[in-house]
Amino acid sequence: MSVSIPYAMTAELTHRCPLHCVYCSNPLELQKRESELTAQEWIDVFEQAGDMGIVQVHLTGGEPLLRPDLNELVVHARESGLFLNLITSGVGMTERRIRQLARSGIDSVQLSVQAPEAGLADTIAGTKAHEHKERAAKWIRAAGLPLHMNAVLHRQNIHLVEDLIELCASWGADRLELANAQYYGWALLNRRQLLPTRDQLIAAEAAFARAKERFGHRIELIWVIPDYYEDYPKPCMGGWGNLSLTVTPDGTVLPCTAASGIKSMKFESVKERRLKWIWEESASFNAYRGFDWMAEPCRNCEHRFRDFGGCRCQAYLLTGDPSRADPVCARSPHHRLVTEALPSESEFDPLQRPSYSYRGK
Ligand code: SF4
Ligand code: FES
Repeated sequence: MSVSIPYAMTAELTHRCPLHCVYCSNPLELQKRESELTAQEWIDVFEQAGDMGIVQVHLTGGEPLLRPDLNELVVHARESGLFLNLITSGVGMTERRIRQLARSGIDSVQLSVQAPEAGLADTIAGTKAHEHKERAAKWIRAAGLPLHMNAVLHRQNIHLVEDLIELCASWGADRLELANAQYYGWALLNRRQLLPTRDQLIAAEAAFARAKERFGHRIELIWVIPDYYEDYPKPCMGGWGNLSLTVTPDGTVLPCTAASGIKSMKFESVKERRLKWIWEESASFNAYRGFDWMAEPCRNCEHRFRDFGGCRCQAYLLTGDPSRADPVCARSPHHRLVTEALPSESEFDPLQRPSYSYRGK
């Protein structure tokens, strides 16, 4: 089977992070600072990515600004011909630092925001960060960089969609992604506290449509669906090992950022193998390419060419087997694992603050 060239690479420079977001999709157990790739090892990875024809690199974490060598990495990644998107909470950013990163080759910045007002935002992030984010947004714009923002939606902020859009427009965002929480890693631990009710979701979709009328000419608005309320799954990652790859802080190479949660699989490392070999030849990347691996009900389903059987990580996390149909699918024999997790309106008290688990607290 011929393998396409990956379009994008997610480079998780570190798992360390000053925030403790309750919806974090990073693994329960984070990789330690001592195991992180050195600057020279990352530079080699960027050269390999450029040689493979990868176009875009997302520099992320954790918080990539915690790497003191970030500027050096950016300089070399740019020399490898890569388009560089910095994904950050803004914490650790200064005006001087973002100007320097822009000069060194950062092409765009994605800044996260948790809620439209500081009190709630800081509760969700588990630390005081919101006010600094506003300053960071100004500095990003002043450095001449496109400002992309993203907000993860869940039970405690989904009713504030219009306010969130208004806030991001006032901070000068060019683009805002409103992504309903995905239940991987730490987020799965808080799923009960995070899942919105169906009524909340219907109201939020209407609010999004209204806000699109008001702000759609100023800011590009993206709505990422909450798959727990769908009858069919999302075409996760555009198919396993099809469009992109992720390199974790210690050099492990994954077909998607959440795949380290699949404990039944072994993933290769850039410390032992070339990136191109891992992409083209490794057992982990080939495991779910194409359609031959599928069992029923996917094997003969007419939707398989569109959704590739859904998400391998979700299939593993909910059923224990990554080769099963994503249980979001109404045709999956495990679909009740999703429907039984949905909250009812009667058990939802909008005045009560959820009792979240915070990482590291
Ligand atoms: Fe997709 Fe499989 Fe469900 Fe068909 S049965 S819709 S291919 S997940
Ligand atoms: Fe890993 Fe969907 S998140 S395949």
